[in-house]
Amino acid sequence: MVERKQLKLGAFMRPVSLHAGAWRYPGAYPDANFNFKHIVSFAQKLEQAKFDAFFMADHLAVLNMPIEALKRSHTVTSFEPFTLLSALAALTEKIGLVATASTTFDAPYHIARRFASLDHISGGRAGWNIVTTSNPDAALNFGLEEHMEHDERYGRAREFYDVVTGLWDSFADDAFIRDTESGIFFDPDRMHVLGHKGAELSVRGPLNIARSPQGWPVIVQAGQSEAGRQLAAETAEVVFAAPRDLDTAKPMYADIKGRMQRVGRNPDHLKILPAAFIVVGDTVDEAKAKRAKLDSLVHYDSAIAQLSITLGHDASKFDPDAPLPEIPESNASKSGREQAIRLAQRENLTVRQLAQRLGGYGGLAFVGTPATIADEMEKWLDERGSDGFNVVFPFLPQGLNDVADRVIPELQRRGLFRKEYEGTTLREHLGLPRPENRFFAPAAHAAQ
Ligand SMILES: Cc1cc2nc3c(=O)[nH]c(=O)nc-3n(C[C@H](O)[C@H](O)[C@H](O)COP(=O)(O)O)c2cc1C
Repeated sequence: MVERKQLKLGAFMRPVSLHAGAWRYPGAYPDANFNFKHIVSFAQKLEQAKFDAFFMADHLAVLNMPIEALKRSHTVTSFEPFTLLSALAALTEKIGLVATASTTFDAPYHIARRFASLDHISGGRAGWNIVTTSNPDAALNFGLEEHMEHDERYGRAREFYDVVTGLWDSFADDAFIRDTESGIFFDPDRMHVLGHKGAELSVRGPLNIARSPQGWPVIVQAGQSEAGRQLAAETAEVVFAAPRDLDTAKPMYADIKGRMQRVGRNPDHLKILPAAFIVVGDTVDEAKAKRAKLDSLVHYDSAIAQLSITLGHDASKFDPDAPLPEIPESNASKSGREQAIRLAQRENLTVRQLAQRLGGYGGLAFVGTPATIADEMEKWLDERGSDGFNVVFPFLPQGLNDVADRVIPELQRRGLFRKEYEGTTLREHLGLPRPENRFFAPAAHAAQ
């Protein structure tokens, strides 16, 4: 019997949730961003549910939203990911730990060391979400007056990847012989000095860390543009995409996997996991009511400020409780404007409801019972819209518990999700090969 293709599930962790109203939801932990005990309980619950990975986003500045919105947003602050994930590594055993790190504002030697360390500490569970950082305010925190141009950022990211992976291959897996008799700690013939001098970066090497359990931590990428997709096709093993529906997801899925084939990579060696906001109810109506309540907790002033940006038009003068009026074209994002207008029409939303929906969480959402949510996930998998999802919880802890205790068993019952971890490393969970060392053939010593 051909084995059923399995879903891969990450948890897109903002400890309070990504939804702007979540910290005000009844039963939520508004202080979770800096309450380590709560975050540990989330990670352990996710591990019991056999999630592939705990994913920690990161930003190098407070988010660049209007202060009216920022002052009401719990996403304004969060822990530095390596510090947090290193601590979680000691308190979990199997779940993957993915940290975001920027190729624009960091140095490759630093990044290579931190991820190799996290991979050793966690026993092979580390992943690197490569970002080029789109928030221009980050530049101001790193001694720069202007943000690097998009194409230049991606050019640097590509070279950065070569340098970091080259550093991870500094030592053969068997370089550390630690021979107490002869007193030789490592074999210098099994050490490679990178000696990289490129357009953007200059790094001598070697890395002062032994090759880590996974060889390389898993490479994750979240860029959407042409340059982002190409970087993903050449380098990534997981993509955190953000399509809004299956119709937009399918061509993106085919495009990235097609690009992989053109650069000679096996398309199965990359898992595309769109972010999906999941709200569970006993009935579809109950789930929708939970979402409506959550959206209603997004303050109107901040929601309308965000909606004005999306529409490219001042929406503050509109009647909040009337349908969206005609919006003239503007210079702002065309796709954002059109999507907002279509959403308002499709769901018959008032200006207030539209603003609160988009101001809360505007992306792909599965809102329903465990069975309807599983139906949708299955459809995405079967129709090649994704290989799984990066789950966004609407509010925590309850929204996370609902997915873990109700949706996961339904997926398991259908044979769509694991009941036990396949192994101990993130690569094993995701079905990804361990990369060979580009400078050393495997176990050459053993063969002699
Ligand atoms: C699911 C998801 C998660 C992301 N997480 C982060 C993050 O933690 N930090 C960050 O700076 N950017 C993050 N991004 C932004 C992307 O790295 C990228 O800048 C954005 O998607 C724009 O892509 P482009 O520059 O290729 O157009 C995320 C994007 C997505 C879709």
